[in-house]
Amino acid sequence: MKQQPRSSPRSARNQRTVSIIGTGSYTPEKILTNEDLSRMVDTSDEWITTRTGIKERRVAAKDETTSDMAAKAALKAIEQAKISPEEIDLLLVATATPDMIFPATACFVQKKIGAKNAACLDVSAACAGFLFAIEIAQQFITSGTYDTALVIGADKLTSITNWTDRNTCVLFGDGAGAAVLGHRGSAHGVISTNMGSDGEYTDILFMPGGGSKTPITAQNAHLNLQTIHMSGKEVYKQAVTAMLAAARRAIDEAGLTVDDIACVIPHQANLRIIEAIGERLGIPREKVFVNVDRYGNTSAAAVAIALDEANRSGRIKSGDYVLMVVFGGGLTWASTIVEW
Ligand SMILES: CC(C)(COP(=O)(O)OP(=O)(O)OC[C@H]1O[C@@H](n2cnc3c(N)ncnc32)[C@H](O)[C@@H]1OP(=O)(O)O)[C@@H](O)C(=O)NCCC(=O)NCCS
Repeated sequence: MKQQPRSSPRSARNQRTVSIIGTGSYTPEKILTNEDLSRMVDTSDEWITTRTGIKERRVAAKDETTSDMAAKAALKAIEQAKISPEEIDLLLVATATPDMIFPATACFVQKKIGAKNAACLDVSAACAGFLFAIEIAQQFITSGTYDTALVIGADKLTSITNWTDRNTCVLFGDGAGAAVLGHRGSAHGVISTNMGSDGEYTDILFMPGGGSKTPITAQNAHLNLQTIHMSGKEVYKQAVTAMLAAARRAIDEAGLTVDDIACVIPHQANLRIIEAIGERLGIPREKVFVNVDRYGNTSAAAVAIALDEANRSGRIKSGDYVLMVVFGGGLTWASTIVEW
């Protein structure tokens, strides 16, 4: 039986309830299978499947930008929320692959969807960005500064993938997911959030080139500095530890127990990481949402797409406690529990 939260931080602080009132997602048409990859680098479907659980991923068209994908996901979320784009006060795009270094990708999305009254900015927290952005939006709505926020996780990781590096190129894909947050008098909503970072590990998952430290020049263009660099084993270890701790903290702070959670939506990076977290938390496999097999790791979009799929497929229902937990370069991690 579902228990009531013992000491919800929301009710304790007598805050406005912030609900997710619409979700949407978009993934590009083009599918790149493990078989396709085995013709590009020295790998196999068997290796990729057993090490990661990924079978295929989506690849955006050359001229399809992060903001294009973000806008498509956003319009679906807006439609489901039954609001007009003009009602959006705050528009956040979590991404590690912005259209340009500036202006913010959120500004491009604003123009594409007609959210002309929104304040727009990007959130840079790599794969953890969507939940960082949810937390930021939640704070603004809770405080009464804004009423409605559009939060998007969108990434075109294939634009920063080194297609000759089998250690990384098999892991990533493109896509976008979005959520509209508002307070509509519903008792249901976000009841617990956590964010954390550890700058000691900036060198285990990063893109060294293209920023102010190492601009890409004619002299260094051949070094692949504008692609993802990763120490896979170290990232794996850190991801399990950080996501597990963040999940436990969110459950604790919500005043819930593991048994109360109806659905866990973890960052979709690797099936083995997802299973390790599920097992250590003691959550049955059927309560853990997985789509990494179809999309690979879409970074900030991963949990956003999964949330939309879980919502639209009826996998999560009104009143369910949904735990989302993410991890990314930085290191960054976050967890959120929503009473759906
Ligand atoms: C990358 C990852 C799948 C590798 O799995 P692993 O179990 O650590 O890898 P293993 O130690 O079993 O294998 C490494 C070997 O496989 C090889 N290998 C790497 N990629 C390969 C591929 N695509 N195909 C075949 N072989 C591959 C390596 O060259 C290495 O060979 P070597 O031992 O001869 O040097 C795993 O470490 C991982 O998922 N890490 C986390 C990555 C992640 O989630 N990043 C994003 C976080 S937001």
